[in-house]
This record gives sequence, C-alpha cells and structure tokens, in this order.
Amino acid sequence: MATNKPPALLSLLVHLHAALLFLPDNHQAAAGAMYNVVRYGARADGSADATGPFLRAWADACRSPRPATVLVPPGRFLVAHATTFSGPCRSGRVTFASAGTLVARPASLESSERWITFENVDGLRVTGGTLDGRGRALWNCKKKRGSRSSGHSCPAGATSLTISNSRGVEVDGVRSVDSEMFHVVVIQCERVTLRGVTVQAPADSPNTDGIHVHMSSHVAVFDARVSTGDDCVSIGPGNSNLWIERVACGPGHGISIGSLGKQQGMAMEVVQNVTVKTAWFTGTTNGLRIKTWGGPKRGVVRDVTFMDATMAGVENPIIIDQNYCPNDAGCPSSRSSSIKITDVRYVGIRGSSATPVAVNLDCSRSSPCSGISLQDVALTYRNRVAKSYCRNVQGTQLGLVLPQGCL
Ligand SMILES: *[C@@H]1O[C@H](CO)[C@@H](O)[C@H](O)[C@H]1NC(C)=O
Repeated sequence: MATNKPPALLSLLVHLHAALLFLPDNHQAAAGAMYNVVRYGARADGSADATGPFLRAWADACRSPRPATVLVPPGRFLVAHATTFSGPCRSGRVTFASAGTLVARPASLESSERWITFENVDGLRVTGGTLDGRGRALWNCKKKRGSRSSGHSCPAGATSLTISNSRGVEVDGVRSVDSEMFHVVVIQCERVTLRGVTVQAPADSPNTDGIHVHMSSHVAVFDARVSTGDDCVSIGPGNSNLWIERVACGPGHGISIGSLGKQQGMAMEVVQNVTVKTAWFTGTTNGLRIKTWGGPKRGVVRDVTFMDATMAGVENPIIIDQNYCPNDAGCPSSRSSSIKITDVRYVGIRGSSATPVAVNLDCSRSSPCSGISLQDVALTYRNRVAKSYCRNVQGTQLGLVLPQGCL
C-alpha cells in the first residue's frame, strides 16, 4: 500500500504541473494574444475615462500578427469620448471580448453621431458585455424641445455601437441599454452575423432603434431581444440578402423595412431579398412594416418574406405605409411615393391586433404594390376577426387568411 502512494502523488503532481503549464498555452492557441484593457490603465470604477487605454489595447491587438483579443474584464468602464476602433488589422482576426460594461458620458459626445465604432475591421468578433449609452438626458431634452417649451437645441445624440465598412464580422451576446439614438448599426458591411443581441430602452425613448442595417449585404440576425422606443430592427436603403430569425420585439415599433424615399441625395434606393422568420411582437405599435415617404425619390423593395410571426396586442400587425410621415411634419412632398414594392410574402402570421385594422396595405397611387401574398394569416381584434384595408395593391391569398377580402 505504502509503496503505491508516492507514485500516485507524483502522478498527481505531474498532472497538476502539466495542467498549469499547458492550460495557458491551450488558452492562447484558442484565443491568440490577449490585450487586457486594465493592463493599459483602464479602471473599472465607472468614473476614470478609459478611452485612451481602450484605444491603446486595440492598437496593439490590431497590429498583432497573431489572432488577438482585446479583453474587457468585469466592471464599469467610462468611455467618455466617441471612440473608433479602426482596421485593417494585421491578423485579420481580432476579437473584442467584454465581460464588463462600457459607460458613456451622458449627452456629451460633442457633435459625434457615434459612440463606439469598429471601422474597416474584416474578421472582427465582438462578444459579450454591455454598452450603457445613458441616453436619458438627451431624450429629456428632445421631449422638451418637442413640446416647444424651451428654445435651446439638443445635442445630436449618438448611436451606441456601429460596425462600419467591414466584412466577415460576428457580434455575439452583446447587450445595449439606453442608447441616446440607435443601439446597434451595421453600415456598408458584408457578411455580418449578430447573435443573441439584447437591447433595452424605455418605450418612450425617441429614435432608439434596436438594430439598424444600412447599405449592407448578407447580414444575419439571430435570437435578438429588443425592447425600445423605436423600431426593434430597421432595414434602411441599399440592403440585400438579409436574414433575420427569432426576434422578440416589444415595446417598440416593430421590424421595419424603411423608411425609404426621404433623403433626396442618394441614388435609387433598393432593398431586396430580405427574410424575417419567427418573430414575436408584444404590445408594439407595428409588427411587420414597410414604410416609404411620399415624393419623387425612386426605389425598389422586392423579394421580401415575412414568415412565422406571433402578434400580441400589436397596433398594426401587417402594414405597408407608402405615405409615411411621422407627426405629419417635414414631409418631402405631398406627391405619392415613387418607391415600387413588389414580391412580398406574409406566411404564418397570427395573433391579436390592438386596433380593428390588422392588415393595412396602403400603397402608392403612382407605383402600386404588386405580387403581395398572404398565406395562413389569422389576426384577431378583441377575439373577433380583425379588418383589412388595401389601396393600390395587387396580390394573392393562399390558405386560410383572416381577415380577408383585401387582395
Ligand atoms: C437571399 O439571401 C440569402 C441570405 O439571407 C441567401 O442565402 C440567398 O442566396 C439569397 N438569394 C438570392 C437569390 O440571392
């Protein structure tokens, strides 16, 4: 017995030693070089400005020849300035991994319209962590200005997280709360996947879209949970090949394509090949929406599929609004919209509307909607079949469609 003990102990020690030796190596092999922002002087006290340390950690990670990770440990880090993490990065594989909370300085981002930006970073990964935009001061200012009780103008406000001009990006498990403006924006990108993004802001916070995609292609959104004061997901002009699956929205203004046709500068506005699959809307103002402004601006929305959506007390579960003009103010023109909407399928849309009209297809007189199809739709208002409204629409109905009589 006694002779067995030393070898067993020895073997344990050898294993322990091996574990201590190899664990960091294995870890590094998986994660590459690590750049912890605390090692660059960031303090997790929520009050010392960590902008400089974050940028220096990023610069080292970005110039690393090996895959590299900027690490934000748990704690609150004040990032007081508009901060751009720029590429291109040498390894083409940089990860920004956060277990902490980045805190903005409220209503102070000078005239920048962005807070945290990743730009020109192909192969970027952003994982975990919370962005706290502390938007309340700006929202309050806007609400006051809206009521015209004070003459001063408010700061522009900033988008909390922008991914710009990048290819092959993954954003995973990021949480954004109380952004001043949009929470997460993907602009001029290709092949971006957002997984498990959570957005939280009050229902009355203005212009706080959850996820906004702009001039991008092959963007996918999976498993997003969005509670906010504007669109949960909004799809601006210049987008193609988007896939949005499993989004829980509410409060909020729904999942929207548009608005299109407002800016006069951009060339023809096109949105094509968009799929929205499996979405839950709870107490939202809209469910599945396409919105365009009136006026001469030309554009096309085509090949859109909305499938498998559940509505609970939604004001406009299915809506195409080609006379979009919030607050009836600043509309570009009283002329009908020149954006053509074609080949839009609604499949498997069910639940309850909070208003009598659950299907509202209000299309342009000069460019009527075509190829609109409704299949397996069942929407109620106060436990009875809701109503539908159609104007300037051509399309088909398949299977059970309630309310019907529109197409
Ligand atoms: C439409 O977009 C999806 C990605 O969402 C893509 O897989 C598919 O190939 C695209 N279809 C066409 C016709 O481009």
